[in-house]
Amino acid sequence: MQKLIIKGNKELSGKISISGSKNATLPILAASILANQVKIKNIPMVQDIFTMIDLLNFIGLKTKIIKKKNTLEIKKPEKKVNTLAPYKLVKTMRAGVLVLGSLLTKYGKAKVSLPGGCAIGTRPVDLHLFALKKLGAKIKIKNGYIFAEAKKGLKGANISFPSISVGATENALLAAFRAAGKTVLKNCAIEPEVKDLIKFLKKLGAKISLKGRTISIQECKISNSKITHEVIFDRIEAGTYMIASALLARKELIINKVNPKNLKSEIDVLKKIGIQIIKKKTSIIIKKGKKFKKINIITKPYPGFPTDLQAQLMVLLTQVNGTSKIKEDIFENRFMHVPELKRMGAEIQIKDKTAIIKGPTKLNGAEVMATDLRASVSLVLAGLVAETRTIINRIYHLDRGYELLEKKLKSCKADIRRV
Ligand code: EPZ
Repeated sequence: MQKLIIKGNKELSGKISISGSKNATLPILAASILANQVKIKNIPMVQDIFTMIDLLNFIGLKTKIIKKKNTLEIKKPEKKVNTLAPYKLVKTMRAGVLVLGSLLTKYGKAKVSLPGGCAIGTRPVDLHLFALKKLGAKIKIKNGYIFAEAKKGLKGANISFPSISVGATENALLAAFRAAGKTVLKNCAIEPEVKDLIKFLKKLGAKISLKGRTISIQECKISNSKITHEVIFDRIEAGTYMIASALLARKELIINKVNPKNLKSEIDVLKKIGIQIIKKKTSIIIKKGKKFKKINIITKPYPGFPTDLQAQLMVLLTQVNGTSKIKEDIFENRFMHVPELKRMGAEIQIKDKTAIIKGPTKLNGAEVMATDLRASVSLVLAGLVAETRTIINRIYHLDRGYELLEKKLKSCKADIRRV
């Protein structure tokens, strides 16, 4: 099994270009089931994307990856269509459940595996099913699968989500996109990734408008023409490297290919901690940090501070003066990185949903184990700060979502290698 070996405590300098967003690409790939022919650019070449492509191939779509150009071409199935998302593909990547909405819209039926548990929480799909039922789908759960049917098509409805979910909003959009009449979705997730899906669906002919957390969708016809779409940048990858820069920049680090408007909460939090940040049109410059100040944070749906950056921020908070707190308000079990960070010398206590982080503490290298994507990258950040060598095991988690991680860090003079 592959490992990462990091020799820490080295200053970083240079530029990092941010890849396309994994979490924007996944629903757009699910939406491609609805199209005749699409070309998607700026796709990150990471494992979760390959798993979703495998799922599209399994369903019967024709895909062609052009790795060097980070582009994927997709054509509609020529003959046989499988309206099935099997367990083996959905269990490794929960976003597979997003094909449910598209398959129902296009073929009037779908059989999709329930994703099951996950390292960061139970992550049910009840909100997805709640919306699909309101749109008129008949849903049964049997043998670990969701059986959904809408033989006469879906019908527009007024749906108010009891709580905010990114995936449920996306699945509802995919299902409501052609539903008869009008659909109004209230209390939606409005992450930039959801907005990118809306942009893609509009190219497909969708009539969608967004106001606050309300999305209105008018019945429409699907366009048959070829669609080209460029995926937005990965704001979580950008946030991860912004934190690495804050911790280790020699003078400054430049993060390229971003839109600072989508990083407002991240920039605000880093500025409160005392990090100097210069915003340009498509880049961000992070200056070498001096004295860091403690902070209390609660993770929230966008535009709040993202749960996907909680573990990385925690590493930064081990280096600030004073005791900081992070309340994880999205997932119930997203502190799996804490025992590993403690093994590296961090002083962190968990009380219910809150991590209490004492700083500054010296981090020492250790052999540690990655548990999920963001927990893993927090260990990379800790390894970059630590005084001695860190070995990170189970790095397949990192490969699910960080494109060219070692290459990008090495180009900034980090001592990191894969064995
Ligand atoms: C998306 O997951 C992201 N994944 C996650 O990225 C991210 O952490 C999460 O949104 C929150 O921002 C993708 O976009 C592919 P949710 P999703 O539905 O859609 C509960 C990463 O590291 N919930 O917004 O699955 C759920 O348990 C990751 O890239 C229900 O109760 O997240 C959670 O507590 C991992 N019932 C909360 O809502 C449901 O039916 C928010 O989850 C659905 C969700």
